[in-house]
Amino acid sequence: MLNALTPQPADKILALVAAYRADTRDTKIDLGVGVYKNADGLTPVMRAVKAAEQRIWQAQDSKAYTGLAGDPAFANAMIGLILGDDVPRTNVAAVATPGGTGAIRQAFELVQMASPGATVWISAPTWPNHPSILKYMGIPMSEYRYFDPETCAVDFDGMMADLGDIAEGDIVLLHGCCHNPTGANLNQVQWDQVIDALNAKAAIPMIDIAYQGFGDGLEADGVAVRKVAAACKQSIIAASCSKNFGIYRERTGILMAVSNDAADMALAQATLAFLNRQNYSFPPDHGARIVTEILNDAALRADWEAELEDVRNGMLKLRRDLADALQDATGSNRFGFIAEHRGMFSRLGITPEQVEKLRAEHAVYMVGDSRINIAGLNAQTVPLLAKAIASVL
Ligand code: LMR
Repeated sequence: MLNALTPQPADKILALVAAYRADTRDTKIDLGVGVYKNADGLTPVMRAVKAAEQRIWQAQDSKAYTGLAGDPAFANAMIGLILGDDVPRTNVAAVATPGGTGAIRQAFELVQMASPGATVWISAPTWPNHPSILKYMGIPMSEYRYFDPETCAVDFDGMMADLGDIAEGDIVLLHGCCHNPTGANLNQVQWDQVIDALNAKAAIPMIDIAYQGFGDGLEADGVAVRKVAAACKQSIIAASCSKNFGIYRERTGILMAVSNDAADMALAQATLAFLNRQNYSFPPDHGARIVTEILNDAALRADWEAELEDVRNGMLKLRRDLADALQDATGSNRFGFIAEHRGMFSRLGITPEQVEKLRAEHAVYMVGDSRINIAGLNAQTVPLLAKAIASVL
C-alpha cells in the first residue's frame, strides 16, 4: 500500500524553515514563517501566558476530557474578544480547534456538509494553505482579485468586480485583519461595501482572523469581523490564538458559526461538535485554558494587552525604519507602502529571481512571492536588508 503513495508538494513556507536552518552563514536573516521574534531573534513566552500556566498547574486537579466543543468558558472568552457585544452570544455556535488551521479545516468541512456544490472564493493571493486544503478536500474554489502588484495596495475595484460574479450561497473567505501574505488591508468604508456586495448575492462570509492585535490594535483589528457578523445573515469565523498569545505549539483556535436563527444555531453547534469527534475527538485544552485564564482575569489581561501592544508597536517601528532605509538605499519611494501595510507581513513586489538572489547572495530568506515577516528584522538587520534589496533590483 505505502508504495502507492505519491510525493506531495512541500509547503513553501515550512520548506523555508528547513532551508534557513541548514544555512551556515552567520549573517543570515529569516523573514520566512509567520512567527513573532523579538529584537534578539527569540520567540518569548508572553508574561501573562507564563503566569496563567503557573496558576493552571497549581489549581488543575484533573486532566479528564472536557467536551467535544472544548471548554465553554474558552468559547465565551474568545467570542467576547472577537465579537464583543455586537452579536448576541446565543447567535454563535463555537468549537475549540487545534489552532487556526484546525478551525479553517473544520470550517471547510462544515461548508462541504451543508453546501456541497458551493464555491469557496479566496483572495488572490492568500495564505497558501487555504487553496491547498480546499484542493485536498475537493472543494470548488475561485479567486477574487485583491492585491495590485503595481501599487502594492488593495485592488479594490478588481475585488468588487469579481465579487459581482459570485453565486448565491457561495463562500467568500476574507482576512479579518493583517492580510497574509500581502499586508494590504481594506479600510472600513471598503469593508462596508464588501458586506453590501455579499448580502446582495446572499453569499456567506468566512473570516480568517489570525493576527488580531498585530495591526491597528486589539479593538480596531476586530471591527471588520464584528461588522460582518452583525450585518450578514450567516457567517463563519476561524480564529487563531497562536500569534497574539504567542502559543503557537499549543494549537489553540476556535471556529464560530453565526446566525440569528435559533434552530440553525442548535444544528450548527451539534454539527461542529460532530465534526470535532470525526477528526480528532476532543480538541486540545491546555492553550485554550491559558487563553481563558488571561481573558477572564483583569490583571493578567491588562498585562497581556500591554505586551501585545509592545509587540505591535515594535513591528510598526520596524516597518517605518525599513521604508526609510529603502528610500535611502534606492533613492525612491517605491517601498513606501511598507509603512502603510499592517500586520506581520508585507509583500515587496520583487520577482522570484530577485528573491532567490537575496537568498543565494545575501542569506536573506523570504517566501518566493516576496512576502517578508517584519518581525524577523531588528535595528541591525533593517539597513542590511535595505542594501541587499537595493542591490538586486
Ligand atoms: C505563516 O503564514 O507563515 C503562518 O501562518 C505559519 C504557517 O503555518 O504558515
